[in-house]
Amino acid sequence: MPAKSQSLRRKLLSWLLLPLLILFFFRVGYNYYYGNALSNRVYDRMLVTLADSLSQQIAYTPASHELVLPPAASQILMSDEYDDIYFAIRDMQGHILEGEQRMPPIPADFAGQQRSFSMGRIYDRDVRIINLRHPLDNKSYVIQIAETLTKRSMLSQEFQSGVILPQMLIIILATLIVWFGIGKSLVPLKRLQKAVSERSHLDLSPVGGEEIPAEVQPLIRAINDLMARLSKVLDIQNRFIADAAHQLRTPLAGLKAQIELALRENDPAITLQAIQNLRASTDRMTRLVNQLLALARNEPTADRAFRKTPLDLGLLASQIATEWVPRALEKHIDLGFEAPAAAITVHGDAARLKDLLDNLIDNAVRYTPPHGQVTVGVFNNGRPHLTVTDNGPGIPSEQRERVFERFYSVLGHGADGSGLGLAIVREIARMHGGEAKIDSGPAGIGTRVSVVF
Ligand SMILES: Nc1ncnc2c1ncn2[C@@H]1O[C@H](COP(=O)(O)OP(=O)(O)OP(=O)(O)O)[C@@H](O)[C@H]1O
Ligand SMILES: [Mg+2]
Repeated sequence: MPAKSQSLRRKLLSWLLLPLLILFFFRVGYNYYYGNALSNRVYDRMLVTLADSLSQQIAYTPASHELVLPPAASQILMSDEYDDIYFAIRDMQGHILEGEQRMPPIPADFAGQQRSFSMGRIYDRDVRIINLRHPLDNKSYVIQIAETLTKRSMLSQEFQSGVILPQMLIIILATLIVWFGIGKSLVPLKRLQKAVSERSHLDLSPVGGEEIPAEVQPLIRAINDLMARLSKVLDIQNRFIADAAHQLRTPLAGLKAQIELALRENDPAITLQAIQNLRASTDRMTRLVNQLLALARNEPTADRAFRKTPLDLGLLASQIATEWVPRALEKHIDLGFEAPAAAITVHGDAARLKDLLDNLIDNAVRYTPPHGQVTVGVFNNGRPHLTVTDNGPGIPSEQRERVFERFYSVLGHGADGSGLGLAIVREIARMHGGEAKIDSGPAGIGTRVSVVF
């Protein structure tokens, strides 16, 4: 597996857990703030009640201006189960008249207010303080009650754990669900992998099944598509090898028969004749092997990396036609060439285009009787055309498609080709994005093979 590939499970988990964790920390922060505010609100209200009831019990001696909290009232301050409660009375100048001497001072912003809350410290402990204005005998005093924070932090913590625990549970649950869910969804893929790895290399039948997840189906379809194409190519190749072997077996058998005849014969003239036949047979076999190689080279499934360069089609065709003049002369055939003065450019591979034209001229010269006419033409009417026209026997219209098939020869034409020439022509034409077709020559006589690029 390439180093870059990442587990689906890990990827999904990080996609899910990251937002959940961010949400979780956001909730924790919010809850901390909200829990504190809530417990303050609840216990501040109780402080107000306490301060009100204490203020009503303060005893005042007008003669001495003395303020005293009766012992029964002081008892209330001791009665809290969790927190220590402190009490003090100050005059408006801030002097403590009665109660706890270490009571933190009145907050600066209290002036003008009836009641306020503040924070402070007594005996090294944090306290919440209520400051309450208390009018008495035309004068104002300030009652202060301070309470440690035990109850408040207990309520706040309870509130937080009530929310944080379920949240953590959700995260753990989500992790488990993703972990096992993915494991379960991957089971069919694991089964598929096992089935594919246990398969014979010859088995190219489609893989997969209904239980494959829908998201993976396109991949499976693409793989099956590839398998189908592969199996088609293998079929074509197998057929080609079988055909080629069959085609080679017949001339080899002929060769052997001729050799045996030459060995048996005592007459030197007949032996010489047999050896000459042998040479002709070997020539034909050489051509057959060359044609097979050309076909394999230009097979649609073969490596298509051929060198495409801009070529002057007229120039190329006239050079190749010139090479064929001696062969045509041997058969008293008039080999002509027609092309416009202007260059006609095609993008192609010169060696393959030569193969194509060689095969067309070879057919025309081979199948046209002596004293016939063969013309190679190049012209452009929107698309570049290459034609080879002869006035030979022609090809019946119902055979004009079949002659492009491999190893197909029209019976009765006498010449002993292997039936590969036109198949090669068609493959090369297609490689160049073109098409090859067969018509009659002018006035319905002979054959014209055209290649359109
Ligand atoms: N110009 C033509 N005139 C008449 N018949 C033709 C002509 N060209 C091709 N044919 C017919 O089409 C058949 C197929 O041609 P093709 O070139 O594919 O094979 P071949 O010539 O028999 O063998 P190869 O070219 O491989 O040696 C030939 O056998 C022949 O009968
Ligand atoms: Mg041929």
